[in-house]
Amino acid sequence: MKKFEQYIQIYGLVIIAFSYVSVLNTNKHDSNLINISETGASVVHILPKYYATANQGKSEKDLDYKQLRINFGNYSDYEFQTYIGKGASGHAYLGIQKSTKNKVVIKTFKSLKWNSIKREIVFMQTVQGHDLISPLVDIIRNNNSVSLVYNRYIVFPTSQLIKTMTDNGNKLFLYQTLKALDYVHSKGVIHGDIKPANIIANPKTKLFKLIDWGLSMYYVPGRPKNPSVGTKSYQSPEILLRYQYYDYQIDVYAVGFMFAQMIFKENNPFKGTKKLGKEKVQYMHRIARVFGTEGLKEVAQKMNINQDFSDFPNYEPVNLNKFVNADNQQYCQSDALDLLQKMMQYDAKKRITPKDALKHQYFDSIRHQFE
Ligand SMILES: Nc1ncnc2c1ncn2[C@@H]1O[C@H](COP(=O)(O)OP(=O)(O)OP(=O)(O)O)[C@@H](O)[C@H]1O
Ligand SMILES: *[C@@H]1O[C@H](CO)[C@@H](O)[C@H](O)[C@H]1NC(C)=O
Ligand SMILES: *[C@@H]1O[C@H](CO)[C@@H](O)[C@H](O)[C@H]1NC(C)=O
Ligand SMILES: *[C@@H]1O[C@H](CO)[C@@H](O)[C@H](O)[C@H]1NC(C)=O
Ligand SMILES: [Mg+2]
Repeated sequence: MKKFEQYIQIYGLVIIAFSYVSVLNTNKHDSNLINISETGASVVHILPKYYATANQGKSEKDLDYKQLRINFGNYSDYEFQTYIGKGASGHAYLGIQKSTKNKVVIKTFKSLKWNSIKREIVFMQTVQGHDLISPLVDIIRNNNSVSLVYNRYIVFPTSQLIKTMTDNGNKLFLYQTLKALDYVHSKGVIHGDIKPANIIANPKTKLFKLIDWGLSMYYVPGRPKNPSVGTKSYQSPEILLRYQYYDYQIDVYAVGFMFAQMIFKENNPFKGTKKLGKEKVQYMHRIARVFGTEGLKEVAQKMNINQDFSDFPNYEPVNLNKFVNADNQQYCQSDALDLLQKMMQYDAKKRITPKDALKHQYFDSIRHQFE
């Protein structure tokens, strides 16, 4: 609770400082860097290139998913058919809506944790209405559980698919993911858990949809967020460094890691982690071994994060060509490596945005299919 009150205080200060700085600084180049002094510690917050103001005008109450009142549909109108499997938050079933005969997927929450249920529903609803987002059909409950009902798509586990995807398939997959993300970000939402398991694929039509809003959040300048989001391998440097003012760009880093898996055809494309320190430190080592120690230190400093790098060797950044071999070279043309490098920048502000990435020459051969 104490921590929460502190957040509110800092939040207030940041907002004040933010409005002030943005008025004062309209003519300086670094108008989006804010330092807030609070008991000697300074919070550095950097605005994203796009959609920084997507949630402007919304009150704390509007942004509080816990306020949601759920309208439940008719539970007995659904028949649960086959169990497909369990995820972090629940169980998924294939099912049917009796009144319409529509095929659906029913995701049942394991326990009645209302806050996480509401979180998923709110963000799901915020991003509804786009081709690349799986549509929510209904929300149903019985006495013991709550379930979300989605239109059913023919899907193939993307985590398997990326191992065998062709160069063209890689492009289609990545392009649609970025397009979906640009839309999600334009709604002021950070997905928060981008990974192959959360992108469903129809291998015939080559159409993909983004799913799983269980870790999503609103982006509001200066509003601190819990840095415990995402799935380890896909976590960005700012998340590993536990920076609380991260933005949409954590999703791009996650896409970057997925892209590396796709083109290098390796589940763990940047192998060679030494078992040093805590888990998050091991992941930082893994990144530093590829992108260099110095850059990681610099970005930690820029965010004013106190991270001990004393047991980090001074890794030099490596050329991504190092990961290209006879088996994967057909996916790793220089355009691909260039885009990958841009997605995996340490500094979220220098990391390419989804909107800009869609214009990258890597997609020149497939872009017309989506225009
Ligand atoms: N609309 C859909 N059509 C077909 N299959 C779907 C659909 N939505 C979800 N699935 C399947 O259900 C699985 C679980 O969905 P989701 O990711 O939303 O739940 P989760 O509990 O968070 O799972 P995880 O822990 O694996 O992320 C997905 O990996 C996917 O295979
Ligand atoms: C913010 O703080 C950092 C480090 O304390 C400093 O280098 C930088 O100049 C400050 N920026 C602004 C805009 O005050
Ligand atoms: C709920 O669905 C069942 C099965 O389709 C139907 O018989 C029933 O009339 C529905 N109830 C309501 C309130 O619509
Ligand atoms: C659900 O709970 C209510 C109230 O306790 C009860 O009347 C009803 O029979 C229960 N329904 C089921 C399907 O168990
Ligand atoms: Mg999932």
